[in-house]
Amino acid sequence: MRNILILNSSQIATPIGKSAKCGEEMNGIRVIENGAVVIKNGIIEEVDTTENILKKYNLDEFEVINAHNKCILPGFVDSHTHFIFGGYRPEEFFMRLNGASYMDIMRAKGGIQNTVNATRSSSFEELYELGFDRLNSMLEFGITTVEGKSGYGLDLATEIRQLEVMKKLNEDHKVDVVSTFLGAHAVPLEYEGKNEEYIDFIIDKVLPVVKEKELADFCDVFCEDDVISIELSDRLLSTAKEMGFKAKIHADEIVSLGGAELAGKLKAVSADHLLCASEEGIKSLAENKVVATLLPSTAFCLNKPYANARKMIDSGCSVALASDFNPGSCFTNSIPLMFALACIHMRMTAEEAITAFTLNGAAALGRADKIGTLEKGKAADLVILKYPTYKYLVYNTGVNIVDSVIKNGEVVKNNTIY
Ligand code: NIG
Ligand code: FE
Repeated sequence: MRNILILNSSQIATPIGKSAKCGEEMNGIRVIENGAVVIKNGIIEEVDTTENILKKYNLDEFEVINAHNKCILPGFVDSHTHFIFGGYRPEEFFMRLNGASYMDIMRAKGGIQNTVNATRSSSFEELYELGFDRLNSMLEFGITTVEGKSGYGLDLATEIRQLEVMKKLNEDHKVDVVSTFLGAHAVPLEYEGKNEEYIDFIIDKVLPVVKEKELADFCDVFCEDDVISIELSDRLLSTAKEMGFKAKIHADEIVSLGGAELAGKLKAVSADHLLCASEEGIKSLAENKVVATLLPSTAFCLNKPYANARKMIDSGCSVALASDFNPGSCFTNSIPLMFALACIHMRMTAEEAITAFTLNGAAALGRADKIGTLEKGKAADLVILKYPTYKYLVYNTGVNIVDSVIKNGEVVKNNTIY
């Protein structure tokens, strides 16, 4: 691997630090004009002005990239997706446009169960190929690390297959994949009306295998009315934590159930969705340093009011933004759409949105010490925009303006940088 010197960037914009930014700190990104980045062995060696870097380094020892008129940011971290699945559900999308709700469809045994049927009948190879393709698409948007959840198996064999596919994709694809076990995504038909028994099955028969095979860092649960109750979510996540998993929770997405409060009590790494989080819940997230992961495209696709990002940030929470890419509630991984929704509809500033998609996303995956900012010692994961400032991410609304992507010091997408 050649060492890389990137010169003449009109602007390098990055949060700074190795842990999540909360409250007003989220606004504080560092901007270096006429910036340069030195990359050695896949790691960032130095970030400074081009003038200072040219005084210190010998150009002959590097592959030189000219980023004139281009803004550089840390690679985006998509910390909440369900990208390994078989089949699609376009008919449900149109049922919703015609008035059906997400939960109406789920209660009628469509929704997640629909994708479970299709995923159970998909082979490892089929899921792998679909996953590889989806990672390619993410890279186009500048995503350099992604989280992926199981949860479309709801039986031992398929949950493990989904996780093994993600493990192999992490080895084979440039994008890093962080895996989450979401066996409690729904109660499958075989366990209809026997929610407790299903959670017992997950705890006794599935979690130990996931642990033994080292297939997931996180355990997650869809804590929702008519899905998995607060009590069962608490039991599952408490047990998972004792077994060494870190906790995540789909919280207060459809109704205000107390998921945010539970996340605080369990000191989960993140609580996700939070469209209906209560004031108490928001306070609990801030106090317990739980990353509030907001998924604006899901609210958009479900036509629901957005999570109250302003209140969360103003109450001192760490907010991350992520896609929730999945075949049901949110079949899009469009980063520019999310930037637009976050800044136009959720009233986040562009600077907060950048922190939310980089450092705070990394924190939601327990990786803020390694990725999410452009500073010495972090992995060289960079996005180069085809415009001179980060503000174009919002201003050029809904358009993918990523010119090039560098992952672990290797150019993995290159439109015009040479
Ligand atoms: O995060 N809310 C639960 N799970 C997903 C949707 C999954 C699906 O509908 O397939 C979500 O929105
Ligand atoms: Fe989700």
